[in-house]
Amino acid sequence: MRTVGIIGAGTMGAGMANVAAVSGFQVILCDADEQVLQTSLERIAADLQKGLERGKLTAQQFSEARERIHPHHSLESFSNADIVIEAVVEKLEVKQDIFRRLEAICQSNAIFATNTSSLSITAIASVLSRPERVVGMHFFNPAHLMKLVEIIRGHRTAEAVVSRASDLARALGKIPVHAKDTPGFIVNRCARPFYGEALRVLGEGIASPEDIDRIVKLEGGFKMGPFELMDLIGIDVNLAVTQSMYDQTFGEPRYRPHVIQKNMVNANLLGRKTKRGFYDYP
Ligand code: NAI
Repeated sequence: MRTVGIIGAGTMGAGMANVAAVSGFQVILCDADEQVLQTSLERIAADLQKGLERGKLTAQQFSEARERIHPHHSLESFSNADIVIEAVVEKLEVKQDIFRRLEAICQSNAIFATNTSSLSITAIASVLSRPERVVGMHFFNPAHLMKLVEIIRGHRTAEAVVSRASDLARALGKIPVHAKDTPGFIVNRCARPFYGEALRVLGEGIASPEDIDRIVKLEGGFKMGPFELMDLIGIDVNLAVTQSMYDQTFGEPRYRPHVIQKNMVNANLLGRKTKRGFYDYP
């Protein structure tokens, strides 16, 4: 593989573009929103700059990585990509529509990977004439730093596609872990009750976000508390993932979204990306 296409230049797309470019791949980065694409390039540049300052990148690696990222607005730009990884909104129909359109554009041996946190890989692939080319590659936030990538095989994913996706994860310096195609895979299956119970404790007025985060870090040894993490992920993205798991499990109470999340999304308090969430980011 030489060329990695990424569609969706938000929180996850930016991090994946960063790590792919640093690892020597040509990167085509695409977003429907021109302003997001511009902001994403600035964010990647700032993150690469931090890498340079911390001695993780040489000046040459820094400038080469920047040159390898090619921003685009149209799906046609993926015609020569060896793999396209989608990181757009957590909505089944939107992801299906993107891959359906890419089928007519991409090379026949190109892999279609989805960074979905919770949706069925099998369902995403079901609308394609060649569902065997679709695989889940679930990166974690921040994608240029976190080591784990869940590799999810859909019902009809080809073995060769699973193995090429795992090879790519390793080439990006990541650790691939294979997960079954079930709602939320492994990590989000464990993580949903973590956020859900913290929200219930907050909702019942038992403790503040600051206190809950502090206790979880002090006593649980976590690096971040649930509210700090929700702000990092994006309250909207976190709500969409919880809602998706709740729906896919026919209303399993452990995954029920909390009204606090919904109210914050309505108020556009989305966490770090809007500079206000459970905490302020001036
Ligand atoms: P985000 O909201 O930061 O970025 C999504 C981007 O997709 C936006 O820039 C939007 O303009 C773009 N977009 C939406 N529809 C599009 C289309 N049809 N064509 C082109 N671009 C389009 O979202 P984020 O946080 O990056 O999440 C993306 C995916 O990654 C979701 O499936 C999410 O569940 C998953 N994910 C998110 C994590 C997180 O911590 N935020 C962690 C792991 C996975």
